Amino acid sequence: MTMPAQTDGNAPAGDPGGEVLLKVTGLQKHFPIKKGLLQRQVGAVHAVDGLDFEVRAGETLGVVGESGCGKSTMGRLITRLLEPTGGTIEFEGKDITHLGVADMRPMRRDVQMIFQDPYSSLNPRHTIGTIVGAPFKLQGVVPEGGIKKEVQRLLSVVGLNPEHYNRYPHEFSGGQRQRIGIARALALNPKLVVADEPVSALDVSIQAQVVNLLDDLQEELGLTYVIIAHDLSVVRHVSDRIAVMYLGKIVELADRDALYKAPMHPYTKALMSAVPIPDPKRRGAKSERILLKGDVPSPISPPSGCRFHTRCWKATEICRTTEPPLLELKPGQRVACHHPENFEDQAPQDTVLLTAAKEASELLGEAALEKSAETSAAVAAEVSGETPEPAGTPEITKTAKAPVTAEAESAEAGETGEAPETDVTPEADAAEEPAASAEAEAGKPAGTAEAGAAEPEAPEGTGKAPGKAPGKASDK
Ligand SMILES: Nc1ncnc2c1ncn2[C@@H]1O[C@H](COP(=O)(O)OP(=O)(O)OP(=O)(O)O)[C@@H](O)[C@H]1O
Ligand code: SF4
Ligand SMILES: [Mg+2]
Repeated sequence: MTMPAQTDGNAPAGDPGGEVLLKVTGLQKHFPIKKGLLQRQVGAVHAVDGLDFEVRAGETLGVVGESGCGKSTMGRLITRLLEPTGGTIEFEGKDITHLGVADMRPMRRDVQMIFQDPYSSLNPRHTIGTIVGAPFKLQGVVPEGGIKKEVQRLLSVVGLNPEHYNRYPHEFSGGQRQRIGIARALALNPKLVVADEPVSALDVSIQAQVVNLLDDLQEELGLTYVIIAHDLSVVRHVSDRIAVMYLGKIVELADRDALYKAPMHPYTKALMSAVPIPDPKRRGAKSERILLKGDVPSPISPPSGCRFHTRCWKATEICRTTEPPLLELKPGQRVACHHPENFEDQAPQDTVLLTAAKEASELLGEAALEKSAETSAAVAAEVSGETPEPAGTPEITKTAKAPVTAEAESAEAGETGEAPETDVTPEADAAEEPAASAEAEAGKPAGTAEAGAAEPEAPEGTGKAPGKAPGKASDK
């Protein structure tokens, strides 16, 4: 199923039009590391280390990045579930950075969070009615017609059967549970909803339904979203703008279309090259992926200068010593890089690549992809007991091409610190693939409890979600 885009993408870059709802400046969260009997602080995890961004009313800001880069911490900071170490958070012009519990209470209505795991985020001992009705009780709000009536209305808004008010979470599938989480988040009619990986625990077909639901709700209720995901293909479908995070920092923040068309940060480019994008126009185009080598460094002692310099194929001395600021290099496109892609070099005097840069990444050519497809086909055949397919698969174009190393490309670039040319076209071999398979490839854990949820779920109530009323869960 194709998930529709949030907007038509014609809005001016970086300007979704609305008022600034949330403004974050220099936001930091350092988790202390304590040791010994006296629990002395011996260090800190720099989970979020100086974020600057704003979210405008009515827009969806997608936040992406590898595991551990601080996305969830950022989400918990802006919903004030965590106390920031530094920086400020303003909501509708009001500084909420250090508001106490009592002062935060009215704010809690306006800012809600949807959590990643629909299995652990709902109390198994409470009925759906109690769970969705809890925000009213916590806030001391009595909706017109009573809590029960309002909860039933909310259940039907998210495509669940209002009659199931008295059922327990285990009686629902993962997708339905995520709808329950959404209903709970919507109870108090919030202005901002922060969704942390709202679909990554769900089966691919169910992901599409939940994304559609979020999309519809945004339109109907005028919601503003911050949607966190590690999966660029999901974020692409839902976001107006996208922030790319690396080790606690935003390295690029741009309008969705600008980011996909011409990413400026090398890390964004590498991330995007791993995501197959269905585009029939790219059929037959060259297919290469940037394979970053090495692990993400520890957030306990992040690298000096640009945090990406230990894995960047363009890194020069200035990258090691000087942190690049997040600058608006193109209208609506902010990037933190001394040698950005698709733009003039910000440090042209610095031309000598760091030794590590030459080893930092590899351009995976079609020959390599073909080889890996061959291996996967052989493994799949072994599992199913069928004869392995001959070399290559239908999806891989058979124009064999030796893998090109970053070093070779750098040499071609004449030691100028120039990156491999922008003809890195990850999308090509995905041209025929539907969006859903892109997500599957992007690392969704296999064999989740949702695996059996292929049956239509969540059903009566919205026109969008197909299927029938949730029965007793057989797929929990
Ligand atoms: N309560 C905590 N105490 C100490 N360290 C923490 C705590 N919460 C998160 N961290 C660390 O902060 C860093 C960022 O974590 P976070 O959960 O925000 O990452 P993430 O981008 O959401 O990752 P994922 O994609 O895996 O969910 C990680 O190194 C994590 O280990
Ligand atoms: S070129 Fe330098 S500043 Fe830019 S991402 Fe690479 S290491 Fe960082
Ligand atoms: Mg997370």
